[in-house]
Amino acid sequence: MEVPPRPELFDFHGVCMLKQFTNNWENVQNFKARPDDILIATYPKAGTTWVSYILDLLYFGHMDPDRQTSVHLHERVPFLEFCKPSFPTGTDLADKLPTIPRLIKTHLPVQFVPISFWEQRCRIVYVARNAKDDAVSFFHFGRMNSALPEPGDWSTFLQGFMEGKRVFGSWYDHVNGWWEKKQTYSNLHYMFYEDLIEDCGREIDGLCSFLGLSPSPEEKERVRTSVTFDSMKQNKVTNYTTIKTLNHTVSPFMRKGKVGDWKNHFTVAQNEQFDEDYKQKMKNPDLKFRFEI
Ligand code: A3P
Repeated sequence: MEVPPRPELFDFHGVCMLKQFTNNWENVQNFKARPDDILIATYPKAGTTWVSYILDLLYFGHMDPDRQTSVHLHERVPFLEFCKPSFPTGTDLADKLPTIPRLIKTHLPVQFVPISFWEQRCRIVYVARNAKDDAVSFFHFGRMNSALPEPGDWSTFLQGFMEGKRVFGSWYDHVNGWWEKKQTYSNLHYMFYEDLIEDCGREIDGLCSFLGLSPSPEEKERVRTSVTFDSMKQNKVTNYTTIKTLNHTVSPFMRKGKVGDWKNHFTVAQNEQFDEDYKQKMKNPDLKFRFEI
């Protein structure tokens, strides 16, 4: 079978994007959010799938056991800006979602989020991951996902990451833009992948108090054990093994799930160059990432 060529990034209002995320732009921008919608926003590879599944289980884990084994996470939590021929668009999937609340995922930088989410004062969960591990995870994702541009070798990929030449633009702009939004928009819960790794139960508690949920200790424990890396890697509704553009033999989607794997990829010179550049771009002293725990 012929393999389709990898897509190319292009400049979209100053942000590197792919056509599959801008093709449906008018519908995305005009999307009608409802007040009880919950938006899960992330830069790619920050733990989107993990937090999406936590929220799905917190809201709907006690319901219909068939749903738990047969409805894939990407159908439960539509990807708002996704639009590819022969697939339903993210906006259509979201419009048709039967659940209340609707859980919706996006990788958009904050300035691209449809206005209705702000107007309706929707709750938003933003997940951020330290730049070094994010870059490593993104590199391997690029290798296994034929719907993304060719990642090149590690040093080429890292250079592009530092220059913001990755889909959804610059990691630095993304995490800073959302952080700034949090200062004026109180319905935004900003969380970190590293904190989830350190103590998932504590982070679930934080999510529950943000969302106004009070699961029983048993329910909470059931969510916690269902969202471990190993459980989600084994679970066909969360491990993305059914998605055709993903080649898990190159690198599994559920790859390592660790903090600090960057140390196995960065050379000493790359690390020094990265740190220097990082200092220039990450001037806000309140937004701090942990590169190891
Ligand atoms: P790695 O490639 O470092 O393993 P996203 O869902 O935003 O695309 O992020 C994917 C990253 O989150 C991958 O990182 C994946 O392994 C990790 N991940 C997904 N579920 C996880 C879990 N339950 N525990 C820890 N890491 C998880």
